[in-house]
Amino acid sequence: MSYFRENIDAMRPYVPGAQPAPGEKVIKLNTNENPYPPAPGVMEVLRTFDGDSLRRYPDPMAREFCGAVAGVLGVPADRVIPGNGSDDILVMISRACLQPGKKVVVTVPTFEFYGVQANIENATCVPLTCDPAESTELIANENADITFIASPNSPTGTLTPIGVLDDLAGRLDGLLVIDEAYADFANDNALTLAAKHDNVVILRTLSKGYSLAGLRMGFAIATPEILDGLMKTKAIYNIDAVACAAGAAAIADQDHKNANARKIIASRQTLGDELGELGFTFPPSQANFLLARPPGGNAAEIHEALKARGILVRYFQQQAILADKLRITVGTDDQNASLIAALKEIMA
Ligand SMILES: Cc1ncc(COP(=O)(O)O)c(C=O)c1O
Repeated sequence: MSYFRENIDAMRPYVPGAQPAPGEKVIKLNTNENPYPPAPGVMEVLRTFDGDSLRRYPDPMAREFCGAVAGVLGVPADRVIPGNGSDDILVMISRACLQPGKKVVVTVPTFEFYGVQANIENATCVPLTCDPAESTELIANENADITFIASPNSPTGTLTPIGVLDDLAGRLDGLLVIDEAYADFANDNALTLAAKHDNVVILRTLSKGYSLAGLRMGFAIATPEILDGLMKTKAIYNIDAVACAAGAAAIADQDHKNANARKIIASRQTLGDELGELGFTFPPSQANFLLARPPGGNAAEIHEALKARGILVRYFQQQAILADKLRITVGTDDQNASLIAALKEIMA
């Protein structure tokens, strides 16, 4: 006997990257967090927050935050919806659009949470093992109810050219969700497509570029019609008052975010060069991580050996296509140097 729907019993849950216990000292390069602190304005909000105001419910639409987003991105405020992390918005989209008989297309490998959401709604998920830039025809021909493309993609780090996404959006009848969680580290983004195409949803997060994975803030940009639909599936107060104020302060300080992104992009280059010297291969990354294949393909073994030395990188043990690869978050230069030193020792 089960309390759950059959598809819930049958599905495989999303497995998040390991989080160390409080106080545990590790070099954490496994979940694409930002190694630099959030903007000073965020710290100020947290220091001075009026605790008494927490007696009241927060603004269900997080207008302070959405107004800051709209101002910085130059989009109308009615085209922004807030999420408790961008994964919250993925849940809203899936709840609003999917049911048995509906079809989701994902390109593999990608963020597994898209497929998990399709499974929860008992929709059909079609995983296409391809790079969207080379397989537009294949993806367009599936004409799914929702097509999810992460760009830059995780775990590969590759950016899908905006022209390809533009073409795809024009050919699909269903939604094209362009997940730009890592856009802050890329040299281009697809934001203009949300104004150009009625079926495009752009997803962003404060978890990566803004160093706020623990705060849980994300947002989507889409037409007011799409956002009206998503609103119906949004938890009433999905954004707490602290996150709303701190998130608005983070968005307001683009200089801080951009300066950190520039540091990470420079470190990504150095780390890539050093991994290359050790014989690792990886696709060109426009994100804050590299999907690196060790020369011997012994990713699982290296993952364990790094872990034993207190260095966490991501190994996707459930995905055969990733069995010989490690996703390595770009850390500070010191953290990256420790990783390289450990790899030299392990591979000697
Ligand atoms: C491609 C992609 N999208 C979305 C997310 C979810 O981010 P968050 O819920 O922290 O905004 C992640 C997290 O790692 C990701 O890699």
